[in-house]
Amino acid sequence: MQEAAWSYSLVLMTLIVAGFIYVAMHSRQRKTDYGPLVKRAYTWRARFFWLLVLVFFPVMIYNLFDLPYGPRAAQQGPATHTISAIGHMWYWELDKNEVKRGEPVDIHVTSADVNHGFGIYDPSMRLIAQTQAMPGYTNTIRHAFEEAGVYRVLCLEYCGLVHHNMMAEIQVNP
Ligand code: CUA
Repeated sequence: MQEAAWSYSLVLMTLIVAGFIYVAMHSRQRKTDYGPLVKRAYTWRARFFWLLVLVFFPVMIYNLFDLPYGPRAAQQGPATHTISAIGHMWYWELDKNEVKRGEPVDIHVTSADVNHGFGIYDPSMRLIAQTQAMPGYTNTIRHAFEEAGVYRVLCLEYCGLVHHNMMAEIQVNP
């Protein structure tokens, strides 16, 4: 999955660079009449605006209901374990990566360099919890892992060239 994301990024970056080169190469030709072009652009801008209002915003609001936060964490009682996680360019440093199923764990997350996103995925690669890894701050997630298996930590914030490779594993034992 991360490799695919990296490939898509590469293709998009190439397209953007190609676009810039095309514009730079054609920027000296000034024979076009811009009037009709501007009119067409405004039409598309209006269409895009309504697309945003009618499609994008409802989808965004619908998505908010699926956020992996909620009152669950508070109901789980005091944490029985803690994990310290530090984000680095480009790897995660976890002082422990094994926990027991059902036991609430406090995960203290910080960063040694730039901002990273600490996202925990369950064995079926569903995002179940996330927080920011920020230099100089510690954010805490309390979470009880509900099923045994290998959970993955991926970086959720673009943090440079090897961002896609920031992965760690948390083993949840039965
Ligand atoms: Cu760390 Cu992206």
